[in-house]
Amino acid sequence: MTVLVTGARGAVGSSVLAGLRAAGVPARAAGRDPETLPEGDRVLLDLADPSSFGPALDGVDRVFVYVPDDLRPFAEAAAAAGVRHAVLLSSEAVLLEPEPEPGGIAAHHADAEAALRGAGIPTTALRPGAFCGNVRQWSAGLEAGVVDLPYPRSATAPIDERDIADVAVAALLADPADESPHLTGPESLTLADQVGVIARHLGRAVEARAADPDEVRDRMARFMPAPMVDSLFRYWRATDGVAAPVTDEVGRRSGHPARTFGDYVAERL
Ligand SMILES: NC(=O)c1ccc[n+]([C@@H]2O[C@H](COP(=O)([O-])OP(=O)(O)OC[C@H]3O[C@@H](n4cnc5c(N)ncnc54)[C@H](OP(=O)(O)O)[C@@H]3O)[C@@H](O)[C@H]2O)c1
Repeated sequence: MTVLVTGARGAVGSSVLAGLRAAGVPARAAGRDPETLPEGDRVLLDLADPSSFGPALDGVDRVFVYVPDDLRPFAEAAAAAGVRHAVLLSSEAVLLEPEPEPGGIAAHHADAEAALRGAGIPTTALRPGAFCGNVRQWSAGLEAGVVDLPYPRSATAPIDERDIADVAVAALLADPADESPHLTGPESLTLADQVGVIARHLGRAVEARAADPDEVRDRMARFMPAPMVDSLFRYWRATDGVAAPVTDEVGRRSGHPARTFGDYVAERL
């Protein structure tokens, strides 16, 4: 059995690839620039370019998949190539917006889940909440000592990308299943709390400053499609002052406790 790992240089995908190889499972690394991937079985794969699917899927029976704009062509090619289990990096957004707004984050991920299942491939659709690595977006503010946040009291249960990968590897090693686990970190923290944890780690003061939502929206709209920006604002408003749900899926599925946000900050920042 060979497992195809799409996005093999991504934060989650790189750990999935390493976890499979450490377990002795033949794993093929895939990406749009194979030279940047770890050595070994590696292949060019652009999920938006069907001409790259054949060589990538040759001899593969399981896949780890990122969500591109339209997953249907790849899902159909994977089914035709004999893939019998997909593990998809979906999103908690699908749970938060059961009737997704077109073009938003929830619709993007729900469409990908439907593409794989519609092609007849049993799918473990991992639905993680906010990643710990999102704090990298604050690097300039952390450097300057002020992080501007439109909703500082918005709460998430940040999940370490390595934990998502550990759950993905466990699913890829198990019998194929059709399921959609909701993955979270072990504790609900507001965005302001998260800035505080980082400030303590850095050993200096960092202010979590309430920013004008309209100004932040305008800034984000310069580099992100409007429906995606709208999704994020719906999410921040819905979670403003509301504790984030915490699940035990990481512990149950990976065999180790979910890493804390403090662990992430200490080990990865
Ligand atoms: N951040 C969050 O809070 C959050 C929460 C829930 C779900 N998610 C999901 O997780 C994803 C981010 O995961 P991450 O942090 O591991 O990502 P990342 O480090 O930014 O890497 C993204 C990977 O996706 C691959 N990719 C993108 N478009 C592709 C295409 N057309 N064909 C082939 N590969 C393609 C890239 O491969 P190349 O090597 O070819 O560039 C890259 O390796 C989000 O996009 C979202 O779907 C994120």
